[in-house]
Amino acid sequence: MLLDVKNLAVSYGKNPKPTIEGVTFDLDDGEILAIVGESGSGKTTVIRAILNVLPGGGHVSSGEMTFDGQNLLTLDEKGWRNLRGEKISMIFQDSGNMMNPVHTIGKQFVEYIRVHSDLDKKSAWEMAIDKLELMNLPNPETILNSYTFELSGGMRQRVGIAMAITFQPKLLLADEPTSALDVTTQAQIVGELMFITRGANASMIIVTHNLGVASYISDKLIVMSGGKVVESGKTQEIIQNPQHEYTKTLLASVPEIGGRRYV
Ligand SMILES: Nc1ncnc2c1ncn2[C@@H]1O[C@H](COP(=O)(O)OP(=O)(O)OP(=O)(O)O)[C@@H](O)[C@H]1O
Ligand SMILES: [Mg+2]
Repeated sequence: MLLDVKNLAVSYGKNPKPTIEGVTFDLDDGEILAIVGESGSGKTTVIRAILNVLPGGGHVSSGEMTFDGQNLLTLDEKGWRNLRGEKISMIFQDSGNMMNPVHTIGKQFVEYIRVHSDLDKKSAWEMAIDKLELMNLPNPETILNSYTFELSGGMRQRVGIAMAITFQPKLLLADEPTSALDVTTQAQIVGELMFITRGANASMIIVTHNLGVASYISDKLIVMSGGKVVESGKTQEIIQNPQHEYTKTLLASVPEIGGRRYV
């Protein structure tokens, strides 16, 4: 088992009441898990807790988390430096926002590679080109010489994903990675993410509002509501036979075309 999360609870700041509670799931090598749920249900909190990057004084108040045999709750800073970016990496909703607008993409990509490896600048540049090519980005040299504002949202997101997969992490955490994009680009990027994850036998947790995306990409699904997991299991089983009212409502909102529900 790659990731094992048991009874996770997270509280923010001095608030004694946990924002999420009793969150339990596990992930094997090569598995893709989708998390769906209403806004504020705690999806982002779950994946930020895994990487120990909770904002606002957020902290794990109870539970257990193990990744690749390591207890994540007792890991020191050095341990985290070895994990983040290399074994576990994160893809955000808008990678363009995560990058510095006054430096070229190449400068940031090369720096990122050099922080996590002992490659010289030239080899790091070549590695960046390889990764951009993997994400189907044409003219990677031109992209490395560009600034984030010169690229479309879809291209920026592909750059973000290229960076996240640079060191072939075992686990990708993707927080609504395509929801800022138009439908066509969304579909392409979801396809690319799946291709890359499956190809590397890596695992992924993807947060999405889109049940169609979840159905297409994931093996397992958890549905969250009010800080709790209200339903979890194999994606296709849940979609064919939802138990919880909230899941039924979610499914009912997916359009039906010619008697077939497109999830
Ligand atoms: N920085 C923060 N400081 C304090 N409380 C926070 C913070 N971030 C999140 N929370 C609390 O955690 C709850 C869940 O937030 P979270 O971002 O995990 O939800 P989400 O399911 O990802 O929502 P969305 O679909 O809108 O992204 C919020 O309603 C809020 O109470
Ligand atoms: Mg969120």
